[in-house]
Amino acid sequence: MAHELLFEPVTMGTQTLKNRIIMAPLTRLRAVEPGDVPTALAGEYYSQRATAGLIIAEATQVSFQAKGYAGAPGVHTEDQKIAWKAIVDNVHAKGGKIVLQLWHTGLVAHNSVQPDGQAPISASDVNVGIRTSLRDSMNQAIRVDATTPRPATLDEINQVVADFAHATKNAREAGFDGIEIHGAHGYLLHQFWVQHTNKRTDEYGGSKENRARLTLEVIDACVDAWDADHVGIRISPLGTFNNVEAGYHEDENMWLIEQINNRGIMYLHLSEPDWAGGTPYSNNFRQRIRDTFDNMIIAAGGYTADKAEENIKAGYIDAVAFGRDYIANPDLAERIRQGASLNKQHPESFYGGSTIGYTDYPFMDESQ
Ligand code: PHB
Repeated sequence: MAHELLFEPVTMGTQTLKNRIIMAPLTRLRAVEPGDVPTALAGEYYSQRATAGLIIAEATQVSFQAKGYAGAPGVHTEDQKIAWKAIVDNVHAKGGKIVLQLWHTGLVAHNSVQPDGQAPISASDVNVGIRTSLRDSMNQAIRVDATTPRPATLDEINQVVADFAHATKNAREAGFDGIEIHGAHGYLLHQFWVQHTNKRTDEYGGSKENRARLTLEVIDACVDAWDADHVGIRISPLGTFNNVEAGYHEDENMWLIEQINNRGIMYLHLSEPDWAGGTPYSNNFRQRIRDTFDNMIIAAGGYTADKAEENIKAGYIDAVAFGRDYIANPDLAERIRQGASLNKQHPESFYGGSTIGYTDYPFMDESQ
């Protein structure tokens, strides 16, 4: 057996994962509009991947205002909750575990997918020159310039916090094994955290305490809505994805991780900069994070099985999430176990469309 360490069970809150190979949250833009309801096909897609130690389902809106991409699902309406329940049941029936990633895209949005066609909210009105996705008549994603955002009012900030709590409650009722707060990649929480996009002068801007306030309020609200053992967070320290600059120092990240750790939540998920072309972490930074965060640490970002094994062995992390490799290999865990080769990826079908490039990647015995 190859990469034995990856097949040692690991504790996640009150649960045990059967291995340390995790399916990363992956935006696939195949939900039904209007309504942003995930499809039955998503149940097949995720259950094909149930041999992962954990599936982190794709970034999912906490409200209609949280939507930035045509085709991304939500978990704030009854219809969405019912659809997710069928997907979760499917994964559980195959012996898998699945948590749901919750997001508000903030400025990575187009006004045509926003309620009443309004400009999206962000911390401030900074246009970072990013693009987002709408849909063509064939359900394929097309890239468009994001709309310049408007600064969220205090009422809207409070509503975002309440929406994360409501979405957590819905995810719990849908049977998920937990939720992951999307605090990474230049989406709303990250937009508040970094000075590049946060020019506010109220209690949500300025000092690191103020810029972290929204993230920490969201964590607290999600923990209240479920409990600390079922709430994780993904952050991307030092990463610049979506043109939102990191713009802060390792020490500020360590301070934020300390605040997160104080909440005792089930995991910290680090999206490392490598996959989006950023500077790799130093082992010193990895060690500082390990020394600061007590519970499970997941890392992601251009990992191979070899690098995963190495960094788990060194004690920096507990598990690794694989993204694009999981799109193309439903049986990635088994392939890693056998040291088998991986399927070729088809990036043209990553976003939008239906079964092609979604549920039709072959399992090992089919491809031989
Ligand atoms: C993407 O659609 O490419 C995407 C979405 C969410 C992320 C990262 C990338 O966190």
